[in-house]
Amino acid sequence: MTVTPREIRDAMGCFATGITVITALDADGRHVGLTANSFNSVSLDPPLVLFSLDRRANCVDAFRTDLGFAVNVLGEEQQAVSNHFASKADDKFADLEFDWQVGGNGCALLDGAIASFECVTDALHDGGDHVIVVGRVTRLNRVEGASPLLYFQGQYAGLEG
Ligand SMILES: Cc1cc2nc3c(=O)[nH]c(=O)nc-3n(C[C@H](O)[C@H](O)[C@H](O)COP(=O)(O)O)c2cc1C
Repeated sequence: MTVTPREIRDAMGCFATGITVITALDADGRHVGLTANSFNSVSLDPPLVLFSLDRRANCVDAFRTDLGFAVNVLGEEQQAVSNHFASKADDKFADLEFDWQVGGNGCALLDGAIASFECVTDALHDGGDHVIVVGRVTRLNRVEGASPLLYFQGQYAGLEG
């Protein structure tokens, strides 16, 4: 059986996820970021996380350094933030309407995120048309009782549907 990209995308859409914005610094020190729902945990000790990064992403080179990255887990009010960082805007931090801070590793932490993970890059693995980026968590933060933005079958959702 041959599985097409459309079929794998549609079937994976049945796997409900949260949504993150993952930020890094490019070689010129400019902030970059993309929306990603492939974020997941790998290991508790040591604390490792991963996400899959499309090789065609404009920001791909920023993740090939050992400078690290930050994962922002979006809250249910942050659909516009998700759409913004899923766009192909040249500089996504120019005239940004959302507030953010510089984290301990220099990467952007978005106000309103319900959790954040600051990471140093631990490994990059071949993942077909994606690169599997593994990070070691050096600092984290979470908001008690906050509701997540969810993604299911290509649509945003909240815990109440
Ligand atoms: C809900 C959602 C989840 C996404 N998840 C991923 C992902 O896990 N990995 C990825 O490389 N792109 C993912 N994307 C697509 C990127 O956000 C999009 O291609 C972005 O423009 C890439 O950044 P760039 O501007 O640096 O190319 C996702 C988009 C959406 C809307």
